[in-house]
Amino acid sequence: MMQFGLSIAQIIAAGLTVGLTTALSPRTKINDAYDFVIVGGGQAGLVLGARLSNSNHTVLVLESGGDGDEYRTRIDTPADSYFDSLWTTPLNWDFYTAKQPNAENREIEWPRGKVLGGSCSHITSESWTKLTGNAGSSAINGLYMTRPGKDEINAWQEMLGDMDGADKWSWDSFYAALKKSETFTPPSDAIAEQGGITWNASDHGTEGPIHASYPDYTFDQVGDWSTSLQKIGVDISSNMYGGDVWGAEVSTSCINPSNWTRSYSRTGYLDPLPDRTNYDVLANAHVTRLVFDNSTSTNLTASSVEYTSDNGTTISSVKVKKEVILASGSVGSPAVLLYSGVGPKDVLSDAGVDLVSELPGVGQHLQDHISATVMWSTNVDTAGSIWYEDGADKTKTNYLSYIDDAIAYVNSTGLYGSKVDEYEKKFLADMDKYTPNTTSDDGVIAGYKAIYNTTASKIFQSPMGQIELLFMNSDASGDIGISAALQHPFSHGRIYINSSNPIDYPVIDPNYFANPSDIEMLLEGIKMARKVGETTPMSNNLTKETAPGSSVQTDDEWKQWLREQASTEFHPSSSCAMLPKDQGGVVDAKLRVYGLANVRVADASIVPIALSSHLMASTYGVAEQASTIILEHYDPSSSTDPAFSESNVTTTTGTTATPKSDKKNAAITAFGGLSNSWMPYAFVSLHFGIIFNILL
Ligand SMILES: Cc1cc2nc3c(=O)[nH]c(=O)nc-3n(C[C@H](O)[C@H](O)[C@H](O)COP(=O)(O)OP(=O)(O)OC[C@H]3O[C@@H](n4cnc5c(N)ncnc54)[C@H](O)[C@@H]3O)c2cc1C
Ligand SMILES: *[C@@H]1O[C@H](CO)[C@@H](O)[C@H](O)[C@H]1NC(C)=O
Ligand SMILES: *[C@@H]1O[C@H](CO)[C@@H](O)[C@H](O)[C@H]1NC(C)=O
Ligand SMILES: *[C@@H]1O[C@H](CO)[C@@H](O)[C@H](O)[C@H]1NC(C)=O
Ligand SMILES: *[C@@H]1O[C@H](CO)[C@@H](O)[C@H](O)[C@H]1NC(C)=O
Ligand SMILES: *[C@@H]1O[C@H](CO)[C@@H](O)[C@H](O)[C@H]1NC(C)=O
Ligand SMILES: *[C@@H]1O[C@H](CO)[C@@H](O)[C@H](O)[C@H]1NC(C)=O
Ligand SMILES: *[C@@H]1O[C@H](CO)[C@@H](O)[C@H](O)[C@H]1NC(C)=O
Ligand SMILES: *[C@@H]1O[C@H](CO)[C@@H](O)[C@H](O)[C@H]1NC(C)=O
Ligand SMILES: *[C@@H]1O[C@H](CO)[C@@H](O)[C@H](O)[C@H]1NC(C)=O
Ligand SMILES: *[C@@H]1O[C@H](CO)[C@@H](O)[C@H](O)[C@H]1NC(C)=O
Ligand SMILES: *[C@@H]1O[C@H](CO)[C@@H](O)[C@H](O)[C@H]1NC(C)=O
Ligand SMILES: *[C@@H]1O[C@H](CO)[C@@H](O)[C@H](O)[C@H]1NC(C)=O
Repeated sequence: MMQFGLSIAQIIAAGLTVGLTTALSPRTKINDAYDFVIVGGGQAGLVLGARLSNSNHTVLVLESGGDGDEYRTRIDTPADSYFDSLWTTPLNWDFYTAKQPNAENREIEWPRGKVLGGSCSHITSESWTKLTGNAGSSAINGLYMTRPGKDEINAWQEMLGDMDGADKWSWDSFYAALKKSETFTPPSDAIAEQGGITWNASDHGTEGPIHASYPDYTFDQVGDWSTSLQKIGVDISSNMYGGDVWGAEVSTSCINPSNWTRSYSRTGYLDPLPDRTNYDVLANAHVTRLVFDNSTSTNLTASSVEYTSDNGTTISSVKVKKEVILASGSVGSPAVLLYSGVGPKDVLSDAGVDLVSELPGVGQHLQDHISATVMWSTNVDTAGSIWYEDGADKTKTNYLSYIDDAIAYVNSTGLYGSKVDEYEKKFLADMDKYTPNTTSDDGVIAGYKAIYNTTASKIFQSPMGQIELLFMNSDASGDIGISAALQHPFSHGRIYINSSNPIDYPVIDPNYFANPSDIEMLLEGIKMARKVGETTPMSNNLTKETAPGSSVQTDDEWKQWLREQASTEFHPSSSCAMLPKDQGGVVDAKLRVYGLANVRVADASIVPIALSSHLMASTYGVAEQASTIILEHYDPSSSTDPAFSESNVTTTTGTTATPKSDKKNAAITAFGGLSNSWMPYAFVSLHFGIIFNILL
């Protein structure tokens, strides 16, 4: 397979695609070259795009998916994530795992967002029930804004040793980045009282682009949650957003309380921007590979990025003046590196991709949260019954803002009581036994051990949660569920490729339950979930357990049921882990890919250890830190804190930012006379604010 440079056919194809647009207006054409090319316009990618373009650098974002405008109401309406799900639309990559030998050989569905805004715009639960017949998993839903723990982030930093830049991954620095990305609004008094919501405003941000808030509708059972948990020994959390991730709470959600819509990377970091002539965002542009200048083999420079807008029929190319930043997510970022020839030798040779730069850690160290749900019928209204039985509130805005938010993080004392030391010893003794056998690379194995050891000897006995419990009120059956999700798996999986065609999906192998300690710990969690439902006041309104039901009682019965039912909580991380190179690391503390001169990764894939948190807030933290690191490198004297929250929407040039829908109309008009090959592509450039004005 050709590795360097463009073939003549590709150059012509690229010229055709881009050239066609020049006739209309220079502003409808992307440039030949950009300082920064960001691969993936998902959650992290749009943060990087906004922050890096607040400068004199030119920035391009390339996103595989569309702009999502035709689904905008469904994205925006929180309750639609259950009741009018995007799961079945093209906005979902709809990956499946490889067969999981320790989970009944199931191929487990792995949704991921494929749209501007990425996974943070794409959440569902209800169709999960339909697709898998597993009512349990429908508990897993969206918009949770939870944060990782202080001890976890500090353990991450310690894993970096004295690496240059490690200070950015201390709790204090990361916590500041988390705050920088958000604006917090407390609930109304009525909602706070009914839902039993407590908060500490000084833990939250006040000027960031993403809203952290609460739905404007709740249920008495949300208020019952903490009381039942307290009765089984799980306290109400006191400082969940300040790094103490344990206890019960009603979490914040990414909801904009001014109109009860989803707040995500597109609404926070793209839509409100003033026109910036140095920033372009191209949707429907799937990156197929990075092309390297081959003047040296140990420190390769990415000179261009190739992408396709028609499923690989034609390949276009854009030149890179400074850097490529991968923000394609935990599945996409390792895949782009592998298809570009950067990765483990054996994987690349099996896939038929020529080796460009050997990097054994790419795709390794994959960790995911795995979960299951106990369900009960109930004698009260649920969010699900109101929807499916046409309750009076069904069409009200406040009801449509409801999404589940009662959770608890249970730590090792909560799970194992006085036996914690015994368990820690067992985990450490098992480390060698469950070393992944899919690699023989000493570095990757050393990394597995470093992560495992940190998890067992630092995180397990810290106060941080090991199991998350979640209250679930939105099932199509009208039942209420309580889920349990494992937060720090000892089983490590991997992402790899099985083909040299970059259009083919990579293989996802989370290796669930390969280490039996994982199913044992989830067993403790799921038994606790049942116990919460059997404890007053929660139990007062639950009439009968419907799943798994009374036939599952013994530990062996539970474990069998977990092998048949457990599924992802949607939080894969660590497939481009930030670790020393000799531990199978992919990026260093400044997010630079080892062996490459100008490529970084900045998304959920770089977090080296699974965190006891949903990953959205952490991903904003990673992207904010990445932006700071990059701007400090190129503009050491400039302020690295570009402010552009909604109150700063009006532009420097005096134009008012055009509403996105109008921009889209402008785009359609603009492309009306062009070749059909352009019609399906949304070219979402911030220049459209200007184009729109010109057209008027
Ligand atoms: C169904 C679901 C529910 C979830 N619920 C929650 C929740 O409630 N709370 C929470 O905190 N977290 C939740 N998460 C997790 C969270 O959304 C993700 O961890 C986070 O958004 C990941 O951000 P990212 O930037 O790493 O990746 P993404 O947001 O997935 O962005 C990656 C982007 O890159 C694009 N891309 C991939 N490959 C290429 C390529 N080759 N070329 C160009 N573009 C490419 C993708 O289309 C995508 O838009 C959920 C995730 C899912 C899928
Ligand atoms: C570098 O790539 C060019 C083609 O792009 C090729 O002609 C040349 O031989 C390569 N050089 C090395 C050292 O591999
Ligand atoms: C951009 O360049 C101009 C002219 O050189 C300079 O005045 C300005 O400060 C620069 N802006 C930033 C954000 O670096
Ligand atoms: C609230 O958070 C601040 C900042 O983290 C902390 O100093 C303070 O102790 C917290 N207050 C309470 C009551 O927990
Ligand atoms: C664990 O969580 C409980 C609350 O559920 C808390 O009281 C305790 O301090 C936490 N820490 C440890 C080390 O157990
Ligand atoms: C919600 O309000 C924000 C401003 O806070 C606005 O930018 C956004 O367009 C609104 N969304 C909808 C769907 O009206
Ligand atoms: C895209 O290409 C892949 C492989 O080349 C093929 O399997 C797939 O069906 C194509 N998809 C579409 C929508 O054409
Ligand atoms: C790896 O281990 C699994 C059991 O976890 C086994 O089924 C598989 O055959 C092993 N593969 C190799 C290559 O040894
Ligand atoms: C595990 O970590 C501890 C420090 O937390 C260290 O003393 C020990 O040597 C490590 N063990 C292995 C096998 O790496
Ligand atoms: C890899 O590809 C081969 C050939 O297409 C196929 O037989 C095999 O099932 C694939 N493996 C995985 C894990 O997808
Ligand atoms: C639900 O439980 C509460 C106590 O927590 C009780 O007052 C109420 O009557 C119950 N509702 C029904 C319909 O049984
Ligand atoms: C790789 O090249 C870049 C730019 O040419 C340079 O800044 C960097 O120091 C080099 N890195 C190594 C490890 O040689
Ligand atoms: C608006 O921008 C100004 C100047 O750039 C900045 O000082 C201020 O903090 C910003 N306001 C918000 C709410 O971001």
